[in-house]
Amino acid sequence: MGWRACISKWKDDRDGMAGTEFVERNRMAKVNFVGPGGGSQSIEIDDGISVMEGAVMGGIDGIDADCGGQLSCATCHVHVDSAWLSRLAPVGGDEDDLLDYAVGRDERSRLSCQIIMTPELDGLVLHVPETQH
Ligand code: FES
Repeated sequence: MGWRACISKWKDDRDGMAGTEFVERNRMAKVNFVGPGGGSQSIEIDDGISVMEGAVMGGIDGIDADCGGQLSCATCHVHVDSAWLSRLAPVGGDEDDLLDYAVGRDERSRLSCQIIMTPELDGLVLHVPETQH
């Protein structure tokens, strides 16, 4: 089963929707992950799920997501490419607090579990830090 099918099945299980219904209703947007060494991986992530969920299911290295998106670990930390910063929703208060525990936090830091995919984010570029711990 490919990762897209995996995500569809996971969404089916979570939402109780039929697989074909889900695939027809949801659109996908491309996200580019640039690794610490400069190499990049691109995956498509369904609208409505978090970048972290898509990254984990898409096998992106360096997104640990130890808490599974419960906003309690900061191991889904990414640096948003400068060109995309203003297009994201602002950092929430809880996210901002937790980012203090992220390794290498800077002004481009976000928790990828708090970035929800929308069609407007197609082409998003994120830099994965060297370490999450
Ligand atoms: S996955 Fe734990 S804070 Fe994002």
